[in-house]
Amino acid sequence: MLTRWYRTGVFYSLDVGLFQDTNGDGVGDFQGLMERLDYLGRLGVSTLWLNPMYPSPRRDGGYDICDYYHVHQRLGSLGDFALMMHEAGERGIRVMLDLVVNHTSDQHPWFQSARSDPNSPYRDWYVWSETEPPDRFEGMVFPGVENEIWTYDEVAHAWYRHRFYRFEPDLNTDNPAVQEEIHKIAMFWIDLGVSGFRVDAAPFLIEPRHGPDKRPRYEFLRELRESMSWHRGDSVMLAEANVSDEELREYFGQADGTATRVLMVFAFRLNQALILALAREDARPVAATLRELPDLPRYGQWATFLRNHDEVDLGRLTEEERQEVARAFAPDPDMWAYGRGIRRRLAPILHGDRRRIELAYSLQMSMPGTPVIRYGEELGMGDRLDLPEREAIRTPMQWDHTPGAGFSSADPRAFTAPLVEDGPYSYKIVNVTDERLDPNSLLTWFERTLHALRECEEIGTGDHEIIDGGPPGVMVHQATGRTGTTLFVHNLANQPCRLKLGDLHDPVQEPLSFVADSDYGNGVDLDALDVAGYGYRWIRLRRMVGQ
Ligand code: NOJ
Ligand code: CA
Repeated sequence: MLTRWYRTGVFYSLDVGLFQDTNGDGVGDFQGLMERLDYLGRLGVSTLWLNPMYPSPRRDGGYDICDYYHVHQRLGSLGDFALMMHEAGERGIRVMLDLVVNHTSDQHPWFQSARSDPNSPYRDWYVWSETEPPDRFEGMVFPGVENEIWTYDEVAHAWYRHRFYRFEPDLNTDNPAVQEEIHKIAMFWIDLGVSGFRVDAAPFLIEPRHGPDKRPRYEFLRELRESMSWHRGDSVMLAEANVSDEELREYFGQADGTATRVLMVFAFRLNQALILALAREDARPVAATLRELPDLPRYGQWATFLRNHDEVDLGRLTEEERQEVARAFAPDPDMWAYGRGIRRRLAPILHGDRRRIELAYSLQMSMPGTPVIRYGEELGMGDRLDLPEREAIRTPMQWDHTPGAGFSSADPRAFTAPLVEDGPYSYKIVNVTDERLDPNSLLTWFERTLHALRECEEIGTGDHEIIDGGPPGVMVHQATGRTGTTLFVHNLANQPCRLKLGDLHDPVQEPLSFVADSDYGNGVDLDALDVAGYGYRWIRLRRMVGQ
């Protein structure tokens, strides 16, 4: 079976405006991203996922869009975007964009027209109510910040619906003209060379706006995918859908065992299990979740992650479990957002403990799926809790220790977001240049480990099997695919352990340890396999070449 690109690589998400500024205005730009492509290539990244880079008032990190057919002028021109796409392609790096079409900004001309004239052709592009809607206070996404989903608009003399902030009116996706426009937007960017989209807020996007039938419109995903495939055969949608296992099956869809709707979905539940397991120092939540997750149809793939540009959403844990995580990782209420998640980066969540940071990422990378990492994770960047909501984790990339962190030559007071200036995560300590020169840095570790991952196709495309029997703190699993079999051992607890895994031994081949937290010697004795506290080992049991 042919390998498909999204199942073997490493995804890297970034906000262009926060990555690298080249014209000294304090805002990252396409030119800057272009100049950093070699850095990303060396790191082992195969695909970029760009957070929204469209014109926007940016009151929600750019997810409030006011023109789907342009780039934000402060990032450069559409020509700069095209040049960046070309340069990425030259390096074998693909680019995916955020497709944010559940809602627009209230500044979008469609909404401006819709609100100001009941006869506007765009009136029915949004969701209106003449009277106060009964569900006004139900199903808010940002409770505590936005406490209703309908707002009365003085200009329109009507209520409009918004699942998210009030400045993000929901598009009326029941309207065929809106559906057609969404296809057109996707085609536009596909034709400019992107490999696909992260589909923002997918469950809300496919939620019917009117009528009694509230069943999600999954088929919209298939239709969109078909349009995309018509323009680009290998394009992919990656759904942001934090939904039940049952519903996840529907996102992939299935005919004759093959996925028919989206090919990738973020593994939100696995993310929460990973965080809980790390907090408890107990691997069982991860093992249990892997067992429960639905089997994927052919070509379906999980996107695994530890952190993204939002809070660590722990909404699927029980209240008790959330409290456990809070005690271990986020004791201060200010570290939380919307009552459900931690608005911090991973390094500070793990108290800057290098052993546990490596352990967490090693575990993520060994999970079934394609790992997605967020810019700065490879450095162990920190956050700024003095910034509101999720802005805490949206500070500029730290390239070096000079004033401005190598991000921009502008006066740092004019930066689009402030740097992490002080403390153990300051750019003066945590930055690419210093870490590059240090063979023991986290950056060097990421490079090494991502390269190992990319030589280990069975992680992304093989079958994963959990091996029981070890102590509760230890996760043992193996991946088997056409390239061979690799065994992974992760000790989430602080006590060292010795495992007896001799049954896995294939007498024909010598097991080979190729990733580990420390030097365990050359030979691997599966009958007495030592793993340090918070240690991890990747052991190749069988290597197939020339198959
Ligand atoms: C999900 C995005 O991840 C989040 O950052 C954004 O605020 C909402 N969608 C609204 O677009
Ligand atoms: Ca700039």
